[in-house]
Amino acid sequence: MATTARAPAALLDRAQAVRWRESWAQVMGGFVPHLASLEETLCSVAEAVRGRAPTRVLDLGGGPGLLAERMARRWTDAAITLMDIDPVLLALARGALAGEVRTLEGDLSTPRWVDRAGGGYDLVTVVMTLHYLPPAQVRAFYADARRCLALGGLLIVADLMPDEGLPSLMGALNPAPGEAVAELAWARWWNDIAEMDLLRPLLAQRAAIFENRLPAEFTAPGSWHTTAAREAGFGEAGILWRCGRHAALAAMA
Ligand SMILES: C[S@@+](CC[C@H](N)C(=O)[O-])C[C@H]1O[C@@H](n2cnc3c(N)ncnc32)[C@H](O)[C@@H]1O
Repeated sequence: MATTARAPAALLDRAQAVRWRESWAQVMGGFVPHLASLEETLCSVAEAVRGRAPTRVLDLGGGPGLLAERMARRWTDAAITLMDIDPVLLALARGALAGEVRTLEGDLSTPRWVDRAGGGYDLVTVVMTLHYLPPAQVRAFYADARRCLALGGLLIVADLMPDEGLPSLMGALNPAPGEAVAELAWARWWNDIAEMDLLRPLLAQRAAIFENRLPAEFTAPGSWHTTAAREAGFGEAGILWRCGRHAALAAMA
């Protein structure tokens, strides 16, 4: 699906965007163990629930668009939209995926993003993003996400969901040993990209956006998210994937 006429042109050429996205993928792989298995589960469940591939998909907090790209290549007839607040990451997504994925700027901490994204989606995904929001905004997010889903549409939320119900030996409560390394790699990635002269205006915009917006680092057990989804009106909700402290919840509108 083509980007909208209002979308800013990509600043980076494709080769540059691809290179930065590759190193981003390595950093994210350090944070989320078995990320590929999460993405495969997410896609298989989305197909199984509808009995066919989704046709209208929204990836929220989609960053540079790795998941959006996978979904676009797996479901070639689907219209995939990626929304994020970060102009630098949106530039990477646009540089690599122009013509394949529609990109939108949007802030999940206010309900206004729903008007921008529109409705009727049969799949909404949000991976490693909700922990940026404080609990009240996460609760509100579930209601907002439901508004943009078609009846019977599926929301999949993957994030840190440490679970007291599981033995600590399974690593469901404690940080994985690689997380500190991943934090360093994350800081290095941002330091490196900050050297790109081409991106200076977007880096300045990014700094202004995040200046008074520290990540809330809110994490809650899967049961908290399941309850929040049900309270927001989702009919069915449950955990579909877990690896250590990371889990994914599926909720049906
Ligand atoms: C850890 S990254 C994950 C990105 C992507 N989902 C992935 O798995 O590669 C978190 C993402 O959430 C986005 N984000 C944080 N706060 C946001 C907000 N209020 N609204 C929209 N996106 C937000 C960040 O810009 C970033 O792209």
